[in-house]
Order: sequence, then structure tokens, then C-alpha cells
Amino acid sequence: MDRELALEVVRVTEMAALASAQWLGRGKKNEADGAATNAMRTMFDTIAMRGTVVIGEGELDEAPMLYIGEQVGSAGASGPEVDVAVDPLEGTTIVAKGHANAMSVLAIGDRGTLLHAPDMYMRKMVVGPRAAGKINLDDPIDTMIEVVAEANHKRVQDVTVIIQERERHQHIIEAVRDKGARVKLFGDGDVAAAIAACMPNTGIDLFLGIGGAPEGVISAAAVKCLGGDMQSQLKPQNERERQRCVQMGVTNPEQVLALSDLVGGDDAIFAATGVSDGELLQGVRYLGDNLAETHSLVMRAKTKTIRFIRAVHNLEHKPHFVKEAGGIDV
Ligand code: FBP
Repeated sequence: MDRELALEVVRVTEMAALASAQWLGRGKKNEADGAATNAMRTMFDTIAMRGTVVIGEGELDEAPMLYIGEQVGSAGASGPEVDVAVDPLEGTTIVAKGHANAMSVLAIGDRGTLLHAPDMYMRKMVVGPRAAGKINLDDPIDTMIEVVAEANHKRVQDVTVIIQERERHQHIIEAVRDKGARVKLFGDGDVAAAIAACMPNTGIDLFLGIGGAPEGVISAAAVKCLGGDMQSQLKPQNERERQRCVQMGVTNPEQVLALSDLVGGDDAIFAATGVSDGELLQGVRYLGDNLAETHSLVMRAKTKTIRFIRAVHNLEHKPHFVKEAGGIDV
């Protein structure tokens, strides 16, 4: 994959963030998601690549754009052939409520390298580089905590596990607390939480829980770029979802999927732009005079370069993202 692609695709998440941030706190998650999707789709047309959406807004009959199988990019016959996984707005409820940690995210891999994860739940475990390869998804929680404590040179009581605040995670939360470690709960947005487990200096040692499978693949690209580790397992809830796994190439849904099953090959690109303020990225700031500031993160697995990009956009020169993209005048 061309390294220039990393710097190009961040423009896509920037535009999606600019479009959806206009809906922050307005109680309209579908409008926010629609604005992000529209802007992301429009912007992809300016990127020189031959992309196939493998994770997107749904099947062709469910989604008018960024549907699974859609071709994106402007390169015609000559550009790099890549798989594209997108979540134009990771945290639709967050934006509707005006809460923290919403982002626009995408991952790119060489053609055939990203798992075509169906839209269902996935059990996930993520650790940073120092604990990579040392724990498994099915290890007892006590063991996981002891291993990450040792790997991260901490006492067990200083270990922090990040977990989405859901009833289905109550037994994990209790097990972590019983072991004497700490729990950091978050409401929505498990891509940011998975990244927090891999980034240095976040104080987070381990991510555990069940969340969206599409978000899982996008997280895996970030984890790969950060040198961390991730294991997962699809959680089909019924026969129809089980069949879906098989159709998408996961013949045994019970199988534990390693990081390399989620994102194969030796390279991947991950890009994210903050929509609302979060611990990883600041959200979109409207500066007045039609200016808006975005904060993005873009990373590449092959080189492990992590770039934080602050951009100031003049919205007067991007009218299609403000209006045609489903945005609103601000
Ligand atoms: P949306 O952007 O689709 O609202 O997803 C937010 C999210 O928190 C994801 O990060 C997470 O994977 C998933 O929802 C968890 O699903 P649920 O809300 O059903 O527990």
C-alpha cells in the first residue's frame, strides 16, 4: 500500500467528522450518522485508490451508500486495490446526547486482508505491546490481570480494565474488582476504548467485552498499527446470524479469531477524527468566521508511525459538506 494513502484517507474522516459534529447534542442520531456517511462517501471519490467496502453501513438493500461491496475511490484501473472498513460515525448515541468520545473511523488493508465481519456482536480482548501474545481470550480473568500487571510492570491493584457499561458485562466487572484491579466503564464507542488499551500513558491495561463485530475489525487495524494484540470471537444471536458468519467466510463462528484473522497481511492503515471531545482526540471546534478545527489520528501498521493531525478548515470552501452532505447551517 502506498504510504501517501494514509495521509489521503484522513481527509475522509475529517469530512465525516465535520458533517456529523453539526448534529452534536440535537437528539438525532440517524441524521448525524447520515451526514457522516454522506460526507465520507463524497470524499472517497477524491482518493486515488480502488477500494471495496467490506465493512460499511450494511448490505446494498439496507444502505444507499458505503454498503458492503461498494467500490470507492477515484483511481480507475491503476490505483492500489484495497479493502475498506468504515464507521462514518462511531458513537451515534454519543453525538445525539452531546457526550464525549464520538469519532469518525476507517481502516484500509490490501485487498482480501480485512475480515468481512457481519453486523453482529463480537467478544473482544485487547492489550498493548508489552502484553501482546501473552494472554488469550479464554484465559480466566484473574490470569489475564496477573499477566498484564507483570507485562506492564504494575501491581495488580494498579491495573485498569476498560469495559463498556452494559448488563452483559456485569460478571466481567465483578471478576476484575474481585481480583483487586480497577474498572473504567464507558458508555459507547469501543474503538476508542480498544485504542486506549494499546496507547502508552493512558493508564489502561486491558480491554474486555462484547461489542459490534464491524467495530472489532476497525479496532484490530488500530491495534495492529500500535503493536498491541487482540483476540475475538463472533457472537451470533440466532441461526440467521450464524448463517451470515458462514456466508462471510467464517465457517466456524465459535473459532477464536487472532489479530491476523481480523486484519491479515503486513500492512494496514487506521484513521480517526474526533467528532466530540474525547480522551484520544478533541472533537470538532467551530472557531467562528466559518472556520472549524479537527483533530485526527492516522497510523500505519508497516511503519508503526502514529500521526496526530490538527487541521483548520474553511467551511466557506467546503459548502457541499455543510449542506449537501446532510449537514445544517451553523
Ligand atoms: P453506534 O455508533 O452504532 O451507536 O455504536 C456504538 C457502540 O458503543 C460501539 O462502539 C459498540 O461496539 C456497540 O455500540 C455496542 O453495542 P450495544 O450498544 O448494543 O451494546
